[in-house]
Amino acid sequence: MTQPTVFVARRVFADIVDRLRARFALRTHEGDAPLSQPELIAALQGCAGVFITGSEKIDAVLLGACPQLKAVCTMAVGYNNIDVAACSARGVLVTNAPGVLTETTADFGFALMMAAARRVCEGERFLREGRWQHWGVDMFAGGDVHGATLGVLGMGRIGQAIARRGHGGFDMQVAYHNRSRLAPDVEATLGARWMTLPELLRSVDHLVIVTPYSAQTHHLVGAAELALMKPTATLTNIARGGVVDDAALAEALARGTIAAAGLDVFEGEPTVLPALLALRNVVLTPHIASASVPTRRAMANLAVDNLLAALGGEGVPPTPVNPDVLARA
Ligand code: 8YV
Repeated sequence: MTQPTVFVARRVFADIVDRLRARFALRTHEGDAPLSQPELIAALQGCAGVFITGSEKIDAVLLGACPQLKAVCTMAVGYNNIDVAACSARGVLVTNAPGVLTETTADFGFALMMAAARRVCEGERFLREGRWQHWGVDMFAGGDVHGATLGVLGMGRIGQAIARRGHGGFDMQVAYHNRSRLAPDVEATLGARWMTLPELLRSVDHLVIVTPYSAQTHHLVGAAELALMKPTATLTNIARGGVVDDAALAEALARGTIAAAGLDVFEGEPTVLPALLALRNVVLTPHIASASVPTRRAMANLAVDNLLAALGGEGVPPTPVNPDVLARA
């Protein structure tokens, strides 16, 4: 029997890709840069499955040009790069990688929040530039994290993991905003209080944004929302570029509307708004919140598990995004 053809759209851990090689006719793109849409379409001709990351765009145009495609498996938890409705309409299964990156990503969100609040990167730059002459009473004095009010915008798995760190580890008051409220017992365990978005913005010391990107969350935090925050507050975005209006944020940071920010994701990344690059009070990282070696390996393995199940007959895909496609099959 001929093996299904699968395309791996990025360089990933070789031993993990070998799990696919054992079962499929495998094609790979070994680069770190994503293929352009025409290149991806050309590479996918005749493929039943594709392993992607958060950067490859799977839309109706691509699906129309790749009629043999049956499974799109991303190693990311976010799937705003995939037109899921278009996939479902064509009977293409979509899977993502939830769960395995929760704790690592929450760790990083906390790290960014702490770095912004305590001015870690500003202090490091100052030292490296040879400008440290003497100790100063308010030199790089920032805000406290312990005992402060933590605001979580988007209370899914990662939001809850951040809330747990704040409540259990740093004695913080936790407030959150989410479309749906948590069950009362979960709220009690996390010490978390639901608020409207304006209430949340007004009351928190440190806001961490973890909500998925969609048309509904585009520029959820813009100039009007930033204006509600305390001048001593910090904002951390580990969700997606586009949830925050980056230009409005740069303006707010420059004017002192808020004190500092930590950003791992950007509108139009990998390009970063020059106004953000020019600011001292923002910590900038290149979309690495899930980047611990064990977690990136677990994410890739989960995408492989999904492909092996979807096209290799190895059980049921563990993390489908559109399980209705499986029910129909
Ligand atoms: C990934 C992410 O690094 O999983 C996600 O949604 O944003 C990150 O963890 C990246 O998208 C992997 O492709």
